[in-house]
Amino acid sequence: MRVACEVNGVAVVREVAPGATLLDFLRYDVGLTGSKEGCGKGECGACTVEVDGRLVTSCLMLAAQVEGRRVRTIEGLGEGHANLLHPVQAAFLECGAVQCGFCTPGFVMAAAAVVDACARHGGRAPTAREVEEGLEGNLCRCTGYQKIRVAVARGVEIAAAECSRKGRDGAARAGTPRTIRKGDAR
Ligand code: FES
Ligand code: FES
Repeated sequence: MRVACEVNGVAVVREVAPGATLLDFLRYDVGLTGSKEGCGKGECGACTVEVDGRLVTSCLMLAAQVEGRRVRTIEGLGEGHANLLHPVQAAFLECGAVQCGFCTPGFVMAAAAVVDACARHGGRAPTAREVEEGLEGNLCRCTGYQKIRVAVARGVEIAAAECSRKGRDGAARAGTPRTIRKGDAR
């Protein structure tokens, strides 16, 4: 069967087996291997991606279900941000929260949703409960959660700084006098 959707802002059309999962579609048909398969049962969060702005475990979703929809993966998360890093990616690097690399893509997707929600509410800090709830679908089986929690808080700070920088740049551009060219209407 044919699936047509948008992945990280790019139109994608592929032939897939009727029972193919979204995770297999992304990894093997589209070639985006950032999302990982941990449990394959919806329990670990390693395969987390966004579909139409909502987090999903892509191992439990069929590729056919994203027909006509927008998918965002870890590979597209930094689009539009400084150095092509979402604030939460920058924070994970800064705080040493990139641990085994297997669970990390899923944790980053979940943490980014928490940070983006805070950014939409004026860059306020998330409560401890919001962080716990935001990350509750993601499991680490080895290293622990503390650095990840710290990175979420730092990601909110980086997002707020990025937001005010963009605001300043936008205001500066709006205030730049336009060059009058010969032939412009007076
Ligand atoms: S691989 Fe999808 S939740 Fe574990
Ligand atoms: S499973 Fe990735 S750091 Fe523990």
